[in-house]
Amino acid sequence: MATHPVARVSELPPGARKIVEIDGRSIGVFNVEGRFYALRNACPHQGAPLCQGSLDGTYTSTRPGEFIREREGEVLTCPWHGWEFDVTTGRSVFNPHRMRVRSYEVSVADAEDPAAPADPTVPTFPVTVDDGVVLLHV
Ligand code: FES
Repeated sequence: MATHPVARVSELPPGARKIVEIDGRSIGVFNVEGRFYALRNACPHQGAPLCQGSLDGTYTSTRPGEFIREREGEVLTCPWHGWEFDVTTGRSVFNPHRMRVRSYEVSVADAEDPAAPADPTVPTFPVTVDDGVVLLHV
């Protein structure tokens, strides 16, 4: 594993990101409220530049009609088809390709699409800070 300086901490404030190229791999480095994370800049669905997507929260629900906003600033949404990933772990948060809407005469229900791709995790890389410099370990 090699260490690569990415930026000074002051150049990467909370909410900011920097996409770097290391050994032919594009990697996004994110500052999430003072904690640094790095992900491969390739969506597991069709290879979109995932790290260029919006970094927001996501919605959850425990019952129909309820929408709970959570994980603000930790959910990365693929710019091509909207797949959501946890920027802190690389794990899938919401896979739109596994969902479809079924319509009925008086109601609508969501169901998993069995032909949809599974939920792979986006590769992540360790990030540390030393002497005010953000270091990516690849
Ligand atoms: S390429 Fe990312 S969701 Fe399709």
